[in-house]
Amino acid sequence: MPLATLKQVLDEAKKGHYAVGAYNINNMEQLQGIVNAAAQTKSPVIIQASRGAIKYTEMNYLVHLIKAATELHPEIPIVLHLDHGDNLETVKKCVEAGFTSVMIDASHHPFEENVRITKEVVDYAHQFGVSVEAELGTLGGVEEDITGTVKLTDPDQAKLFVEQTGVDCLAVAIGTSHGAYKFKAEPVLATDLIPTIYEKTQKPLVMHGSSSVPQDILAQINKFGGQMPAAQGVPIAPLQKAIEGGVAKINVDTDSRMCMTGTIRQIFHEQPTKFDPREYLGPAREATTKMIAERMQAFKTAGHAGDYKVLSLEEAKKQYYGL
Ligand code: 13P
Repeated sequence: MPLATLKQVLDEAKKGHYAVGAYNINNMEQLQGIVNAAAQTKSPVIIQASRGAIKYTEMNYLVHLIKAATELHPEIPIVLHLDHGDNLETVKKCVEAGFTSVMIDASHHPFEENVRITKEVVDYAHQFGVSVEAELGTLGGVEEDITGTVKLTDPDQAKLFVEQTGVDCLAVAIGTSHGAYKFKAEPVLATDLIPTIYEKTQKPLVMHGSSSVPQDILAQINKFGGQMPAAQGVPIAPLQKAIEGGVAKINVDTDSRMCMTGTIRQIFHEQPTKFDPREYLGPAREATTKMIAERMQAFKTAGHAGDYKVLSLEEAKKQYYGL
C-alpha cells in the first residue's frame, strides 16, 4: 500500500466520526512502537516529523524507516507528514523526499502574510497530490524555535483563511500549548469554539499540543530520578469533545517522549548492570505501543484501518485537485 495522503485519512475520519492521532517520531523505536499500536488496534496513523526530527534522523533514514513500515504493514493507512514546516524550501525538500503531507506554519505572521505563504505552499504541494495543513491563531509553549503566546482562532477569519488558501485542514488554537507544562492550574480550553469553526470552514480541524501527560508515567519518571514537577497535559475528555465538534487530527509528541524516558529511567535505576541498548529501548518501544494503543481507542481510530483503499499521490492529485 502506498503512503496515504492526510486529506484522504482526515476526510475518512470525519465521515466515520473519529480522529487520527499524529504522532511525532525521532527514531526507529518510536516509529515501531507507534506502528505496532496501529497494527494491533487496526488504526490508520499519521507519523509526523518536525524539522528538528528530520535534522536528527537525517532525511534518508527517516524516509526509509517509514517505507519499511508500509512494507511490513500494508493493511494500515500510514501518512508521512511534516510538522511545523517553516517555508516553501523545507516543504519542497520533504515533498521531493516522499512526504505525502506537509504543514506550513505561518501563524506567527499577520493574517494576510499567513494567507500568502500558505497559498504558495498549497499551489506547490497540490501539484504532487500532497496534502497541506496550515494554522490560524497561536498556541502557547515552544515548538522548534518559536515560542508562542496563546491567541485563539477567530471563526470568521478561519472561514476566510480556508477560502483564500485552499488548505486541506486547519490547525486551530483553543488554549493548548506544546510541551509537558500546559497548565498551571485546571486546564482551560475553548473547546466550544471548535464546532463554530468547523461549521464555517467545513474542513477537518487539527489540535496541536494535545498530549495528556499521563500522571502514572510522570510519577515513574520522577520516582526514578527525573525532575518534572507539576507537568500537566490535556485530559482525554476534552479531546473527545473536540472530536465530536470537528477535530480529526490530534497531535501527540510529549507523551511518547515521556513514555520512553520513564521506562528507560526505571530500567537504569533497577537494573544498573544492563548496558545493551536492546534491553532498555525494547521495553521503551513496548511501553510506547501500549500508550499509543490507548490513544487510538480513546480517539476512536481503532478498527478503521480497513475502511478504504489508500489513494496514491497521482490518484489524489486527480481526484482532489483536478490536476
Ligand atoms: P504535545 O507537546 O502536546 O505532544 O504537542 C505536540 C504537537 O502539537 C506537535 O505539533
